[in-house]
Amino acid sequence: RKVFTAGLIGAALLASSAQAEVRDIRIAVDVPYEPMEFRTADGELTGFDIDLGNAMCTEIGIECEWVVQAWDGIIPGLMARKYDAIMSSMTINDERREHVLFSEPYFTPPSAWFAPAGLEMDAADAETLKGLTIGVQRGTLQDNYVTDMYGDVAKEVKRYGTADDLVLDMDADRVDIGFLDYPVGKSTLLDSEEGDYKVVGEQITEPKKYFGDGFGIAFRKRDQDLADAFNAALATLKENGTYDEIVAKYFDE
Ligand code: ARG
Repeated sequence: RKVFTAGLIGAALLASSAQAEVRDIRIAVDVPYEPMEFRTADGELTGFDIDLGNAMCTEIGIECEWVVQAWDGIIPGLMARKYDAIMSSMTINDERREHVLFSEPYFTPPSAWFAPAGLEMDAADAETLKGLTIGVQRGTLQDNYVTDMYGDVAKEVKRYGTADDLVLDMDADRVDIGFLDYPVGKSTLLDSEEGDYKVVGEQITEPKKYFGDGFGIAFRKRDQDLADAFNAALATLKENGTYDEIVAKYFDE
């Protein structure tokens, strides 16, 4: 019993000198959002964000617990202290910066239009969206962009709680065209066996108002120490090759 107590005190002293301010945290994520965050056949969380987040936590020397949270309420949950961070392919943009503190961007993919291979349209020409049903995940930048730019010309903008529900409706022909973060559309539509899909038009990164500055980890505004620790960990993982290994595991090009 004595030894146990001494060990505990020793560990506490060590921890307090090495990591004065950064504590174990809970990180929220909305799944499925393949290949960024999803579950394996036996229910385990995996994906680019999960691997990178875990590597960062190991680098910082803290325990991180993932909390599955619907995208809809993911920022309010952070404010309500249900968890301490969000790492869920969240794009850094000015609107969100009003509410949260972002890490440096850790990944910067474009958005794109995904449609059945047979659909004829020119995404650059809003007129061709007339009469089409457009699908997006509710509350994403893709939702905001499509609603503002095409809400009036489209037949309907269908908003889904998860990216997976959108994909299911595309496979069932209940929506004509989807607008998604490119890696997610690639993995769930282009690479899927359920249907034959293509990208329509260019990959989209502008205007910044919507497409922002890449994916960041979100923290409460007062948690600058936490953001600093994650930024330092990201820099280290980029230097030592771990970041590239995780990229190679999930993206083939
Ligand atoms: N990148 C987009 C955004 O920030 C969508 C992210 C959705 N993430 C998720 N795990 N469902 O609005």
